[in-house]
Amino acid sequence: MKQIIYLTGFMGSGKSTIGPILANVLGWDFYDLDRVIEKKTGKKIREVFEQDGEDFFRRIETETLKEISNNDKTIISLGGGTVASEENIKILKGSGKLFYLKMSMEAAYGRLKYKRDRPALKNTSEDFSKEKLMNTIDELMKARISYYEQADFTIDTDKSSVGKTVDKIVKIISQAGFE
Ligand code: S3P
Repeated sequence: MKQIIYLTGFMGSGKSTIGPILANVLGWDFYDLDRVIEKKTGKKIREVFEQDGEDFFRRIETETLKEISNNDKTIISLGGGTVASEENIKILKGSGKLFYLKMSMEAAYGRLKYKRDRPALKNTSEDFSKEKLMNTIDELMKARISYYEQADFTIDTDKSSVGKTVDKIVKIISQAGFE
């Protein structure tokens, strides 16, 4: 079986930070699904949402996931919404191991409150209050938690540095004989 590790988790959970470090430690390749989509479309993710709509983005997301799921010895950082699709879950579970980088609502708020590049948060307007952002995070988390929890492994990142989280994943991979 090909060896792919997928990283899932809410926006801001550290997927795109931890992914390349993990790949470097293992000597594996690395893909960030959003960056591959941006290269393919020639647009920033935010522009795809604004100009082509979320449905188009999700179709491109699934198409691109299918393409890169044929790699081997590869770490793939997913978008926060990638797992929220039965079709994508099937591709993920059929081609590798899925790690969920778990994060509390409060940690998510702290990491996202100044971000303006996540169209899924709809917080592009300047007058985005803490209450509005927390409500949006809560709604999205509730809608997605059942997908995140289908992961093969869950790592709580709230009290774990990037290095510690990488160490935990490497330990699981080596114990599972996956490397
Ligand atoms: C999204 C998360 C983003 C990106 C897009 C949609 C989501 O990825 O795929 O903005 O629906 O949660 P990150 O989780 O890397 O921010």
